[in-house]
Amino acid sequence: MVDVILGLQWGDEGKGKIVDFFAPRYDLIARFQGGPNAGHTLYVKDKKIVLHQIPSGIFHEGTVNLIGNGVVLDPITLKKECESVAAFGVDFRKNLYIAQRTHLILPTHRALDKASEMLKGEGKIGSTLKGIAPAYMDKTGRNGLRVGDLLDKTFTTQYIKLRLKHQKLLDSVNFQEDLSEWEEEFFEALDFMRQFKIINGEYFINDKLSKGKTVLAEGAQGSMLDVDFGTFPYVTSSNTISAGVCTGLGVAPQQIRDVIGVSKAYCTRVGRGPFPTELDDAVGEDLRKKGNEFGSTTGRPRRCGWIDGVALKFACMINGVTKIVMTKADVLDTFEELKVCTAYSINGQTTEEIPFQMDRMSIEPVLQTFKGWNTDITAAKKFADLPEKMKEYIQFVNKYLGVKISYISNGPGRDQLIENG
Ligand code: GDP
Ligand code: IMO
Ligand code: MG
Repeated sequence: MVDVILGLQWGDEGKGKIVDFFAPRYDLIARFQGGPNAGHTLYVKDKKIVLHQIPSGIFHEGTVNLIGNGVVLDPITLKKECESVAAFGVDFRKNLYIAQRTHLILPTHRALDKASEMLKGEGKIGSTLKGIAPAYMDKTGRNGLRVGDLLDKTFTTQYIKLRLKHQKLLDSVNFQEDLSEWEEEFFEALDFMRQFKIINGEYFINDKLSKGKTVLAEGAQGSMLDVDFGTFPYVTSSNTISAGVCTGLGVAPQQIRDVIGVSKAYCTRVGRGPFPTELDDAVGEDLRKKGNEFGSTTGRPRRCGWIDGVALKFACMINGVTKIVMTKADVLDTFEELKVCTAYSINGQTTEEIPFQMDRMSIEPVLQTFKGWNTDITAAKKFADLPEKMKEYIQFVNKYLGVKISYISNGPGRDQLIENG
């Protein structure tokens, strides 16, 4: 049986904390897509740690962690991350596995990412510049190098061939940057990676499933950044939705039980692209300040706005969400008024559907207003402790989406999670 935890918005919903919380209930935690564009924040013994590629179950002894084939993996980042988790006493050599079909991010992928954003100019995506799109392009273009190739004698020859191809592309756009330092680090990191348990991920996971073991699949980014269903072209380059679990790990759809969708009690987006409920005013600024909304990977300020019911309903539909976790509810503690977007108004027409080419139209959110609860909820332990006004807010979103908000997160700490009923 596989349960999935994934983001329902534009990323940074608090997935890392939620995966860390639920991890002890599972035998295996697996990342199925994305790469070091992700930044998942956890608090371990009151110390903050941000994971980019290692699954968020790594701090629990007894859970196996797998980087699945759907991920694009940067060896340099992986080495650094391993060193930082080792500082917490984690024996990553024992419980971190990597699927051999996982594609590698090369230094030239990062350079190509930068070059592509430069060429796009005004139309740039706001990529994290971690080489994600070029690495996935080499995967679908059937050129990429995979983790399993590391163990092959021809690896260096294959690398040189691909690097030359990349260099030609970089030269053609006159992109000049000295990559020698990156490359040196890259080869050091590859040597480090060769000590890992590089395995056949699909047999590994299916063998566990056939023995009745439980798997938690950890999503990166969010549903509105999905390459097919997100706000294209302002998206990432992988399938972030639940369907990505099957291709990203090699498990059959019948194995999936719960799809746990994580959403903030409001909404944020980092990078460019449509964001209908964005608040470009003092309220948005207040959300950013109180929610400490600065990117975990790039440190960029996150754009902030009200919760977008239209986008959430869409995300629930395409993911088959069975439970919702509402995070950062405490950030709204001091707001006099709260708003929920229940429809979009486009050229005077109201719709509850996500339109095609959202980036090319002017969308006015239709907002329903709620009174704030004006109570500090960070110490609440059970649903009954929560203020009535907050329960009304949750109840409304719950009813609008038709999916239960099963948990409410009321702070970044491991123990700040309240079950609803
Ligand atoms: P992820 O990418 O989905 O894992 O989310 P990030 O880690 O990028 O961003 C979420 C941020 O919110 C992190 O700094 C978390 O520590 C923090 N966080 C998570 N849940 C809560 C919560 O319920 N309340 C508050 N105040 N912060 C939270
Ligand atoms: P987690 O897992 C928020 C955004 C980037 C950019 C777009 C494309 O922490 O939620 P990419 O580098 O993937 O080519 O960038 O996607 N983005 C994220 N935004 N959280 C993330 O991950 C993101 N990963 C990518 O800001 O707009
Ligand atoms: Mg993040």
